[in-house]
Amino acid sequence: MVILQQGDYVWLDLKTGREFDVPVGAVVKLCDSRQIQVLDDEGKEHWISPQNTNIKPMHPTSVHGVEDMIRLGDLNEAGILRNLLIRYNERVIYTYTGSILVAVNPYQLLPIYTPDQIRLYTNRKIGELPPHIFAIADNCYFNMQRNNKDQCCIISGESGAGKTESTKLILQFLAAISGQHSWIEQQVLEATPILEAFGNAKTIRNDNSSRFGKYIDIHFNKRGAIEGAKIEQYLLEKSRVCRQAPDERNYHVFYCILKGMAPEMKVKLGLGLASDYSYLTMGKCTACDGRDDLRDYSSILSAMKVLMFTETENWEISKLLAAILHMGNLRYEGGPEGCDGVSDHQDSDHTRGKCRYAAQRGAGPGRQGRLRQGSFY
Ligand SMILES: Nc1ncnc2c1ncn2[C@@H]1O[C@H](COP(=O)(O)OP(=O)(O)OP(=O)(O)O)[C@@H](O)[C@H]1O
Ligand SMILES: [Mg+2]
Repeated sequence: MVILQQGDYVWLDLKTGREFDVPVGAVVKLCDSRQIQVLDDEGKEHWISPQNTNIKPMHPTSVHGVEDMIRLGDLNEAGILRNLLIRYNERVIYTYTGSILVAVNPYQLLPIYTPDQIRLYTNRKIGELPPHIFAIADNCYFNMQRNNKDQCCIISGESGAGKTESTKLILQFLAAISGQHSWIEQQVLEATPILEAFGNAKTIRNDNSSRFGKYIDIHFNKRGAIEGAKIEQYLLEKSRVCRQAPDERNYHVFYCILKGMAPEMKVKLGLGLASDYSYLTMGKCTACDGRDDLRDYSSILSAMKVLMFTETENWEISKLLAAILHMGNLRYEGGPEGCDGVSDHQDSDHTRGKCRYAAQRGAGPGRQGRLRQGSFY
């Protein structure tokens, strides 16, 4: 039996059977020999018998939370979650667990990434200031300089957790502290809009979900200035080009070119609106709240300029994107002899004899290519 007093903090195991069934924190409101009234972290009241084994006293370190969870007396899932929750409720999104930084997505722009904050966190020891992503970046940078050793930062989390935003913040910090702004540094930063245009899409979990993994290698010279970078991407979700789940979109770049490309160029490529293309409408969602495809198109173009894509390369890329959209609009019909449209038959003459492929150039609204009986042309 637990002996409690009013104002004590406890763990309450409600055994709800829900997916994340962990004890919640609660504070004792009333306590007598027959029952205890507690108010849990979610604001719900419970009456519990003192004999109930589902109530346990809370370690003092869990009561108001700690900056480094290594210090938690109740170092278990409930302890970690409550610690993050009470900090999050105070708009504190960063917490350490030793040298690991845990970030909780605030889904709002907090005033903690200003140039003043960058200056504040520069050349400080971890733990000297409240936990922050800049402290991690600063630690990497100065360890590299001090020990002359490569440093690695691993950012992981579920979709929508904030990995991409954290990567950008680290890059922003490194670019700011590594000396004068150089052309190469601008190129490293400007690679992001291009990578995101071709590799990010709206999903049901994240309006800007990266559909690929990324490894960024940043090279510094002896003076600590950024001298180059190598960005490797892997495991791109290629299937998204042809198929999207409900309420999801294809890669941003398709919607951006259709919104932003000059009308005469669109005419040349036979392009129309996003709603005209089967590859862009499978998720029944062509717009994305909070994203401006027109504005994004101009950032893609200016990023391409910074990264020295030539006009010809740009045009070739646009042609490829347009070709994908037109191909997605091809429709296939079975011919009278039972041709199934796409045949994996090895004898191409056989296929040719039965089917005709008509990819209409400039398939705009309602002008979809058709596969009919006949020959390829
Ligand atoms: N530190 C932050 N401050 C403000 N908003 C944030 C922060 N981190 C994330 N967000 C918000 O959450 C959204 C999703 O974050 P982000 O794209 O970084 O997730 P992700 O982990 O990269 O997801 P995915 O695996 O789907 O790519 C961002 O578009 C932004 O609105
Ligand atoms: Mg991402």
